[in-house]
Amino acid sequence: MNSVLVASNRGPVSFTVSDDGVLTMKRGGGGLVSGLSGVAKDYGVLWVCAALSDGDRSAVRQSPSGRLDQAGYDTGALRMLDIPPATFHRAYNAVANSTLWFVNHLLYDIPNAPIFGSRFQREWESYRDYNRAFALALAEEAGHGARVMVQDYHLTLTPAMLRAERPDLRIAHFSHTPWAPPEYFSLLPDAVAREVLEGILAADHAGFLTERWAAAFMDCCERLLGAQVDRAGRTVAHGGRTTRVGVHALGVDGEALWARACEPDVESHMAALRDEVGDRKLIVRIDRTELSKNIVRGLLAYREFLAAHPEWHGRVIHLAFAYPSRHDLPEYREYTASVQRCAQEIEDEYATEDWNPLILNVNDDYPRSLAAYRLADVLLVNPIRDGMNLVAKEGPVLSPRCALVLSREAGAAAELGAHALVVNPYDVIDTAGALHRALVMPEDERRRRRDSLEAAATALPPQKWLSAQLDALNYDFS
Ligand code: G6P
Repeated sequence: MNSVLVASNRGPVSFTVSDDGVLTMKRGGGGLVSGLSGVAKDYGVLWVCAALSDGDRSAVRQSPSGRLDQAGYDTGALRMLDIPPATFHRAYNAVANSTLWFVNHLLYDIPNAPIFGSRFQREWESYRDYNRAFALALAEEAGHGARVMVQDYHLTLTPAMLRAERPDLRIAHFSHTPWAPPEYFSLLPDAVAREVLEGILAADHAGFLTERWAAAFMDCCERLLGAQVDRAGRTVAHGGRTTRVGVHALGVDGEALWARACEPDVESHMAALRDEVGDRKLIVRIDRTELSKNIVRGLLAYREFLAAHPEWHGRVIHLAFAYPSRHDLPEYREYTASVQRCAQEIEDEYATEDWNPLILNVNDDYPRSLAAYRLADVLLVNPIRDGMNLVAKEGPVLSPRCALVLSREAGAAAELGAHALVVNPYDVIDTAGALHRALVMPEDERRRRRDSLEAAATALPPQKWLSAQLDALNYDFS
C-alpha cells in the first residue's frame, strides 16, 4: 500500500490516440503539473489523476485498475480515473473552470454572470461525483496512516469525502490559485460556498502560495462559516476540528530548467529568433491564453508605449506567446479572438516594410518559449490575478539580462516585487511606462535586479515545496 499520495485533475502524462488506435504518451502541461512531475517519482508518490481525453480513457482501459505504470508506461506510480465523460465535463468545465476559477480570479462580468439556476445544480452534483471518485480511489490505494496531498480547486470536496472513508489518513489540500475575498466568494450559492470551505477544512493542512491567498481563505471561513480563526497561529477551528493553514511558495528548479534550455532544439529556435529580431530589443510574454493572464491589456500597453515613444519604432519587437487553453469554454475562444484582433490592429498601425513590431504566436512550443526567455530584454507578466506565475520566475533564471515588468496581483510579486517593475495590471499607461523604464534600464542595474530575481525564483524549488507539504502533515494534529 502507498504511504504518500497526490491527487490532481491533470496528471503528469496524457495520451493521444491515432485513427488506427495507437496510443502516444506526452507530458502534461500547466503550472501544477510541471512543478510536481519532476519530484513525484523521487518521493515514490502514487499520483491519482483524471482521464482528460479519449486517448487517456483508452490507456486507462488497457491498464489494470487504471494503474498506468503497471501497464508498462514509464510514468511513476500513476492511477488514472475514467470518470464518465459527461460528469467530467460538467465538473471540469462548468464548475472548476467556469465557476471556481472565475470566483478566485475575480473574472465575472458581474451584471451578466454568474447565474446559479437549476442547470448549475446539476453541474454541482457532477462536481460532487467527480470529487467522490477521487476520494474512493485514494481511500482504496492509501496505506494505513498515509499522507495524501489533494491539489487545487477541482478537488475542494475530496478531503471531506476522503476523511469520511478513512479517518486514519493525514490529508493536505493545496490551492495553486488565488483565493477570493469573502465579498466576492459569497457570489457562490451559500450552501456551495460552505461545502467548498468545509471540504477543504476537512484536511489537516490547507496550503496556499502566498500570505495574501491564505488570509483571504481564513477571512472566508470566518465570515461565511463563523469559524474561529487564529490568524497569527494560522489555524481555523470549525465543526470540532482544527485545520492548519500553511503558506508554501513554489519556485523553479534552476538547474533542471537550464539543462533543458541548453538542448539543441532550444538552440536552433534561438538562432531562428536572432535572425528574425536582429539587434532590436525584445519584449517577451509567455502565457496560456487565459482570461486571468490579461494579454489584451498587455498588448494595449505595448501600443501605448509605441504611441508615446516613436524613438523606439524599428528598434524593438514584442514577442507574445499566447498558447491555447481550455478551448471548450466559449469565453476562452472569444478571448483568443480578441487577442488576435488587438495584435492585428497594432500591426496595421505600426508595421513597416522592414519592421514588424509584434510577433504573436498562438501555437504551443515549449523549446521556442525557452529560447525566447534566453533572448529577452524585458519580460512582461501582467495578470489580473494569479496564484503564483512561474513565467515570472523562469524568465530571470534563463535570461542573463532581462528586466521584469510584473503585475502586483501575481502571487510571485510577494517574492519578486522588490526587484521587478511592479504595475497595476488594469492601468495600461502605467504598464507602458514600465515597459519603457525596463528597456532603458542601465546595464548594471538590470543585472543586479536580474540576479536578485533569479535567487528569489529558485529559493523554493518543487522538491522543497513538496517536502514542506509532507513535513506539515507530520505535525501532531491530535
Ligand atoms: C494553472 C493553475 C493551476 C491549475 C492549472 C489547470 O496552471 O496555476 O492551479 O491546476 O492551471 O490547468 P488545466 O489546463 O488543467 O485546466
